[in-house]
Amino acid sequence: MTRITDLVIERAHGANFWTTDGVKYIDFVSGVAVNAIGHTHPEVVEAIQKQAGELIHLGLNYGYFESTVRLAHKLAEITPGNLDTVFFSNSGAEAIEGAIKLARSATKRPNIIAFEGSFHGRTLGATSITASSSKYRKYYEPLVGGVYHVPYPYSLQLDVDSEEEATQYCLKRLRKLFDLQVDPSQVAAIIIEPVLGEGGYVPAPPAFLMELRAIADKYGILLIFDEIQTGFGRTGAMFAAEHSGVTPDILVMAKALSAGMPLGAIIARRELHDKWETGTHGSTFGGNPVSCAAALASIRVIEREKLVERSHTLGKRIVANLQEQIGDLPQIAEIRGLGMMIGIEFQGDAALTPAAAVAAIRTEALKHQLLVTSCGVYGQTIRLMLPLNIDEHVLNEGLSILVNAIHTVIERR
Ligand SMILES: Cc1ncc(COP(=O)(O)O)c(C=O)c1O
Repeated sequence: MTRITDLVIERAHGANFWTTDGVKYIDFVSGVAVNAIGHTHPEVVEAIQKQAGELIHLGLNYGYFESTVRLAHKLAEITPGNLDTVFFSNSGAEAIEGAIKLARSATKRPNIIAFEGSFHGRTLGATSITASSSKYRKYYEPLVGGVYHVPYPYSLQLDVDSEEEATQYCLKRLRKLFDLQVDPSQVAAIIIEPVLGEGGYVPAPPAFLMELRAIADKYGILLIFDEIQTGFGRTGAMFAAEHSGVTPDILVMAKALSAGMPLGAIIARRELHDKWETGTHGSTFGGNPVSCAAALASIRVIEREKLVERSHTLGKRIVANLQEQIGDLPQIAEIRGLGMMIGIEFQGDAALTPAAAVAAIRTEALKHQLLVTSCGVYGQTIRLMLPLNIDEHVLNEGLSILVNAIHTVIERR
């Protein structure tokens, strides 16, 4: 694994964590977009403790557990459209594996289309559809077969002038793929992150997602949204799908679902799940009652404290604030955000490449007790994954450390 810091971390609360030597840090990473309601939220801690005292594990094959069933109902309520039936796993990658299996099993078709720059996880199936770094695939080939990639509508990296141009270009490449390499009748699913996560924090234009929906419908292809990073308010909507009004056939979630406990889930219509033959998939720990209790508590906090709405308004404010403070620097290519999924993309010159600038900013910020990380295929973007309920003064302190770190690195090059 890549190790971002050598800190030895003892405890964490809200948007702060403390190392064993007593130093306090501000956390702008949130366990990689997991701790949407901050670390060790008291309601989540209480729910975990209560559930652990009653039932930790028995195995979903052997019966129903109240927290698991209640969570499935809750997910059906808060996900878009008519998605109503859940399969639980332990992690994002595992949920992706399940989604691929469901798509192949339900359609009896072999092929999957995914996008350049996308990240779906580290297991072999998930690695096969991932295309955000050749390093993730190196030494592991041959990977799962029947996977094709087309470009993601990321205007800045495609070197086009507008979202509309990027949309048209990527749709053209998809049609070309159908003409030259894979007949659409042989495609089980198209899988996309509605906002590219690891690949750069780039929202797909709503028109692109709408067009994918139409193409999928035309050819009987299933549309899968990987909302592992975008779900549960991160983008200013409970799920990013809502921004385009597109309901996928399968929605995959994990990360912020369960406030740090291991849990992933796929949700799809009952009639689709009915095509997934009983016994052809399973999990020992998936849907364990403790993770599900944590998830229910976390969703309750998100709803009660209107954190989806806060993500929308605070996200806009943070982007405007950053724009004002650093937007004019020639090294900044773009500051963009959908809700609190915020990216600051750098552009380089001969003296300082974007990746080197971002790496140096991370190091500089850490020296001042701010943990911040990056994304983008070339490591060119700083991504902010703040808790949706972050305290204003912690937010302002963290942003000021970040802005100072950016100025320091740019000025000393
Ligand atoms: C969009 C997306 N899909 C899948 C995954 C994999 O999830 P996990 O690390 O829980 O396996 C991630 C993790 O970063 C992700 O961001």
